[in-house]
Amino acid sequence: MGDERFYITTPIYYVNDVPHLGHAYTTIAADAISRFHRMRSVDVFFLTGTDEHGQKVAQAAAARELSEQAHCDELHENFRALWERLDISNDAFIRTTDPEHKEQVKAALRKLWDGGWIYEQDYEGWYSVSEEMFVTDDTEIERLKAAGKVEFVKESNYFFKMSAFQDRLVGAIESGELVIQPDSRRNEVLGFLRQPLGDLSISRPKSRLGWGVELPFATDHVCYVWVDALLNYCTALRYLNDGTPADDLYGPFWPADYHLIGKDILTTHSVYWTTILMALELPLPRRIFAHGWWTFEGQKMSKSMGNVVDPNRLIDEFGADALRYFALRQMPFGQDGDFAAAGLVERINSDLANDLGNLASRVLNLVARDGGTFTPGEPTAATQPVIDGFNAAAADFERDFAALGFATALRRLWEALAATNKLIQDTEPWRLCKERDEDPAAGALYDEVMRTSGSILQSLAALLFPVMPGQMSVLWESLGGEGSLADYRYAGDRRFLSVSSAGGVEKGEALFPRIDAKSVPSFTERAEQQSE
Ligand code: MSP
Repeated sequence: MGDERFYITTPIYYVNDVPHLGHAYTTIAADAISRFHRMRSVDVFFLTGTDEHGQKVAQAAAARELSEQAHCDELHENFRALWERLDISNDAFIRTTDPEHKEQVKAALRKLWDGGWIYEQDYEGWYSVSEEMFVTDDTEIERLKAAGKVEFVKESNYFFKMSAFQDRLVGAIESGELVIQPDSRRNEVLGFLRQPLGDLSISRPKSRLGWGVELPFATDHVCYVWVDALLNYCTALRYLNDGTPADDLYGPFWPADYHLIGKDILTTHSVYWTTILMALELPLPRRIFAHGWWTFEGQKMSKSMGNVVDPNRLIDEFGADALRYFALRQMPFGQDGDFAAAGLVERINSDLANDLGNLASRVLNLVARDGGTFTPGEPTAATQPVIDGFNAAAADFERDFAALGFATALRRLWEALAATNKLIQDTEPWRLCKERDEDPAAGALYDEVMRTSGSILQSLAALLFPVMPGQMSVLWESLGGEGSLADYRYAGDRRFLSVSSAGGVEKGEALFPRIDAKSVPSFTERAEQQSE
């Protein structure tokens, strides 16, 4: 492990939801960047989990005639199972019903209470169960009333003095102490903070909702689900275990380097969470990155519309690696994008089957047929420009990937791939191979072209491992790479990895078989069945 540390989180997903492409997206991104840093000897802690309290969960459990806990115990497995299928390498999976989490939420609430940051007041207003929030905007209230999606409540509530932190929060964002990305989201938060900030209701009376963490200073109330949920980012590090922060996790890893979130939950993270942290006298997260929203063939994905894209169906059809690549390559992180089956098939066929897969099968076939060994040697003018091009692309890749610019970083690597494919087309190694008995120069060029393209492939396998851990490990092994790629750690800045001449190169199966666009079924099918 290196000296550097990196802590990254995804939102904890509502346990009731059938996991869909949107959830998979955030988790894939967090996984890719975690793997990227681990390969560079950074000590990573990657957290995901499920949000299991609140009225929605209580209602869903009641509808199934199950206890809330039994309902959550069953449903959270949908997320765990999907993360396993997607090769997600999270270090922890937190559930807000974990006793350790609940104890720490109570301890944190107690701290806020003792610090004088919480007061009691009667409250009345319109509450949206689906959003688990009071709605204050009049137009929004009218819209939701018409849709039957809000209920009027009048109750005693405990409030967090969020308003006391408004100026400090603006200062933290403006000074860069708290970075909100992309810039458009930062501006959105600063815009929001131009209005006076209210206080935050942080409790629900048990008479209305019993499913939550009890307030330690008012046991007839439970904690508002968002406060409980946000605290997960600290409790997973055992922030207040036995009343004190744990040395092994909290100490080294907090503050988070990135909270990855979708743009839908920007305010809860940038405003609620940060002010709670201020009241708890904890350092703010370094960065909050709010990515964009996936639509399905132009429409918002929603259960009621039956167009929720089920990642399980995509994995069944194309494999986890292709889905991971598509998710990160298709839409720039931070912007919105549309999911369409045709786009996915096109990406798989052109980028993976064609550009990457064909290069791999050409090189592996030729070398495997030729004794399975690369011949050692130094590059000449015939291949040096391709190597230089690769090194330049790899340097750009490093910079962009680290900044979560996945699509740009990947596009750049594909330029190096194109140059390598061109080298093969121009030199026609299958012809050189036949000529080498009569023509030693042809033999030398053949060896050099194979060695260079094999080395670039092996280097690409390592660079692309965070995105496609499964098939890049296969490629690495086929090329005779040493050990398992999952254990590979870069030594220094060099990204061009020369293939070994120890032999053992194998032809293997096609890495990414071409997809027949006509045979692609509906991706929303299984999600529909599950939500019925
Ligand atoms: N439980 C809260 C989060 C609490 S975090 C302390 C929640 N859960 S959720 O299940 O609704 O997940 C929301 C997250 O899922 C979004 O922020 C985003 O990361 C991801 N996505 C859900 N739908 C999405 C799309 N259609 N497109 C992209 N990502 C979206 O909110």
